[in-house]
Formats: sequence, structure tokens, C-alpha cells
Amino acid sequence: MKEIEKAVNSKKLGEVEQKYFGRKKGLLNDVLKKLKDLSNQEKKKIGKLANQVKNELTQQIKEQKEILQKKQIEKSIQKQDLDITRPGKVAKSGRLSPLSKVQYELEDIFRSLGFVILDGPEMESDYYNFEALNIPADHPARDMQDTFYVKDQNNKLVLRTHTSPVQVRAMLEHGAPIRAVVPGRVFRYEALDASHENTFNQLEGIMIDENVSIANLIAVMKTLLKGIFKKPVKVRLRPGYFPFVEPGFELDINCLICGGRGCSVCKQTGWLELLPCGMIHPNVLKAGGIDSEKYSGFAFGLGLTRLVMMRYGIDDIRHINSADLRFVRQF
Ligand code: PHE
Repeated sequence: MKEIEKAVNSKKLGEVEQKYFGRKKGLLNDVLKKLKDLSNQEKKKIGKLANQVKNELTQQIKEQKEILQKKQIEKSIQKQDLDITRPGKVAKSGRLSPLSKVQYELEDIFRSLGFVILDGPEMESDYYNFEALNIPADHPARDMQDTFYVKDQNNKLVLRTHTSPVQVRAMLEHGAPIRAVVPGRVFRYEALDASHENTFNQLEGIMIDENVSIANLIAVMKTLLKGIFKKPVKVRLRPGYFPFVEPGFELDINCLICGGRGCSVCKQTGWLELLPCGMIHPNVLKAGGIDSEKYSGFAFGLGLTRLVMMRYGIDDIRHINSADLRFVRQF
């Protein structure tokens, strides 16, 4: 046992192990081998003792091995000059853009109100983008949205100028009653500046059922705004013209910066224009195959990009699609 204790490295320990347990010349092995030549009585006595010695030595060799291993590790750590108390390298992880963050938050709010989340094509037919929404060809309302037309055989394809075409697609696919929101990218032929982009995001919403009224519209909008801004928000409706709603509104919120007293953000009016909305025009319900005598509904078009800018105080819309990591990493 002393020899084992004195073995200062694994090579020495190996030698000790060999000396006693070696197959051919191991001293202890030798004793065990010769047991068979003893008388029965001696066999009992010596055999028991030999086994005990064997077990104790085996155990001690094992322990010594562990001690040496630990020492070895400590030594190699010292050699590498490894300071385990130093902070580690931070793994760079990807992250959601502020746009996705706000979108997912809105989806959660609407899901809790029984809305489904739908999707639609970004390259859209002239029919769904305009005509089915009560905007006939040659109607001056077409000029409200500067459009990218796609060169196709019939010149009947556009990059959708809003998420509203999915209103009619949803009605045709799911019928009434329906509650749905549609987040998505939209495209307009804009001159770029701090508040105009050719590609931005909206979130469309519709709720169609028997007896849906403006009161329902206001209630859902207030629930939505409370979810976004984490406190009750005062709203007002002003008349607004969109061919696919009647009556149509601009929904304003009480200015969040000054609380309605008037400041530079709300241009001293106390109100901020937030989202257009209205009761779905009977012609649009018809285009969606829905009986406009039995059903009514509201629609709204939330400017998702604008909301993100308000939420995070982003002062230039061009940052959002810039893919500039210095911008993205702030969220
Ligand atoms: N689609 C309209 C736009 O982009 C907004 C809107 C949606 C208005 C729904 C009323 C109802 O300008």
C-alpha cells in the first residue's frame, strides 16, 4: 500500500500494479495460483486473506489512479494558462426584426379574440387588388395608390398595394361568419423619404357576422390598442374615403406623447392618425360570395411598419428594410 501511495505518476503506478497483479510474475497472482497446492484448512485461511488483500489493493490502485488523473488535469490547465473565472465568449445569435416582433404580438392579441391568421399572394391580380374591392378600372380612386404593374400577357398582375385583396379571398375560401387578420408586405411606387418606402407592411383585419356594427369595430380596436400600448387609449373616428368600406373612417388615437394637450408629434392637435377602417361595402361582400342582407362586417388596415416606428421611436422608415446590422442589433 505504501508503494501505491508513493507512485507519483501513472507509469510508476502501472509498474506497482504489474509487480503484484502481473499475469506471469505478479507476486499476489503467484500466491493465488499456488492456493491449490495447500491443504484444505490452509486454503480456507490463506485464500480468504489473499482475497482481502487483493480487494484492498485493487481499490487503492483505483483511488490512486483518480488522484493522479486529477493532478494531470490541473497541470495541463496550468500549462495552458487557462483562467476559468474569465467570462466566456458570447455566442452570436440571430434575432427577430422589430417588424416580426410586433407582428407576432398582434397575432397573439387577435388570436385571443377568436381571429385566424391568414396569408395571401404578394403578386396579385388586378381583380382582387382593385376590382373586387369596388375600385373599377378608370375609377379615380385607383390613383390613391401608386401601383407597380407587372408585365404579363394581359397586364393583369400587380404587386399588391395593400393587404385588402385577402379580404375577398378569405370570404370566398371560408365564407361567413369569419374573423381573420392578414399580416403582409405591400408595395407602392413611392418616392423614398424618411416616411415613404416602396415596400412596407400592413395588417388587414375583417370580422363578418350577423349584426356586426361600428360598435364592434370600436370595441375590437380598443382591445387591440390596449394590448399594444399596455394601457387604455382614447380613440376617435373621422370620416375617411375608401371605396371598399361604407361608412369609412380614419381612426385616431389620443397622442401618446403629450396625452392630448398638443405637441410637435401630433402637430398640436392632440390626436395621431393610426388606422383606416370601416364597414365592409355590400359590393365587396358580394364579390366574396356573402349575402349582404344577412351579414355585415368591418375591416381595418393597420400600418404595421408605422406602428413599429411609433413603438420604437424609429425616425426613418428606410432603416427597416436596410438590413443594416447596426440597426437590427438594437432590438
Ligand atoms: N387598404 C387600405 C389602404 O391600404 C386601408 C384600409 C383597409 C381601409 C381596410 C379601410 C379598410 O390604404
